[in-house]
Amino acid sequence: MTSTTSEPLLRIAGLSSGYGRVNVLDGIDLEVDRQEIVVILGPNGAGKTTLLNSISGVARTGAGRVTFDGRDITGAKPEHVVRLGLTHCPEGRQIFQRLTVEENLLAAHIGRGGKSFETLRAEVFELFPILKERRNGMASRMSGGQQQMLAIGRALMAEPVLLMLDEPSLGLAPKVVHQIFRIILDLSTAGISILLVEQNVQLALECGDYAYMLNTGRIRLHGRAQEIAAHSSLGEAYLGGATGETLHV
Ligand SMILES: Nc1ncnc2c1ncn2[C@@H]1O[C@H](COP(=O)(O)OP(=O)(O)OP(=O)(O)O)[C@@H](O)[C@H]1O
Ligand SMILES: [Mg+2]
Repeated sequence: MTSTTSEPLLRIAGLSSGYGRVNVLDGIDLEVDRQEIVVILGPNGAGKTTLLNSISGVARTGAGRVTFDGRDITGAKPEHVVRLGLTHCPEGRQIFQRLTVEENLLAAHIGRGGKSFETLRAEVFELFPILKERRNGMASRMSGGQQQMLAIGRALMAEPVLLMLDEPSLGLAPKVVHQIFRIILDLSTAGISILLVEQNVQLALECGDYAYMLNTGRIRLHGRAQEIAAHSSLGEAYLGGATGETLHV
C-alpha cells in the first residue's frame, strides 16, 4: 500500500503490548497526521514510553496494528523503522557519554534521506549553536539541557519524517525547557511531524495540535489540544479514571 493524503502519517489501531508476558498497553488507538504535533500525556507508569517503544520496535507488540506512511510496521525492528523515517528520541537521552558531540552525530548518521553527514551536521549546528561550540567536547561534560539538544540532534541525523520525543524537558531548568519547546515548534514548521510524550502538561498542550491522555495502559481522553486544555475532565483522567469509557472532547 502506498501513502495517500487521506491516510494519517501514523495510525495505531487496537495496540496491546508490553514486556515478557505482561501487557502494559491495552487497545490503543492513535493517529498522527502530517505536519501535526501530537502530545501524549499521563502520569508515571501510564505506559507512555512503552507506547513509543512499541511503535519504534523496541517493545514487543501483542495485538493490533501500527501503520506508518502507508506501510504496516507492526513488530518491525527498530533499524527498519528508522530507515522509513520514523525516529525515536528516547527517554533519558541515551547519548554516548564517552564520545564527543561530533562522534555522537556521526554514529547517528544512517544515510537515510540522502543528505551528507556534513550537511546534516550543519543543520543541527544551526539549530543548536551550543553543539557547534562544544563539538569536540565529551558528551558527559555537557549540562542536561545540552545533552538533550544532542539527543535531538542525533535524532535529526536520521532525517525523520516523524520524530518521537520521550520527555525531552525532564529535569531541565525552565529557561531550557522553553528553548526545547521552541525547537520542537521550529521542527514542526520545517515539516517534521512530532509525537511528543510530556509531563509538562501546560506547555505540551500549548505546543501541540492534538493530545491523548494515557493512564494505566489505556487512552482515557483525547481531543484537540486547546479543547483538552479547557476541559474539566483532564485532571480526573490524569489522576484516576482507571475505569470507564474513553472520552473524546
Ligand atoms: N522493561 C520493562 N520490563 C517490564 N516492565 C516494564 C518495563 N518498562 C516498563 N515496564 C512497566 O510498564 C509500565 C509502563 O511503564 P512506562 O515506562 O511505559 O510508563 P511511562 O508512562 O513512560 O512512565 P514515566 O512517566 O515514569 O516515564 C509500568 O508499570 C512499568 O513498570
Ligand atoms: Mg516514560
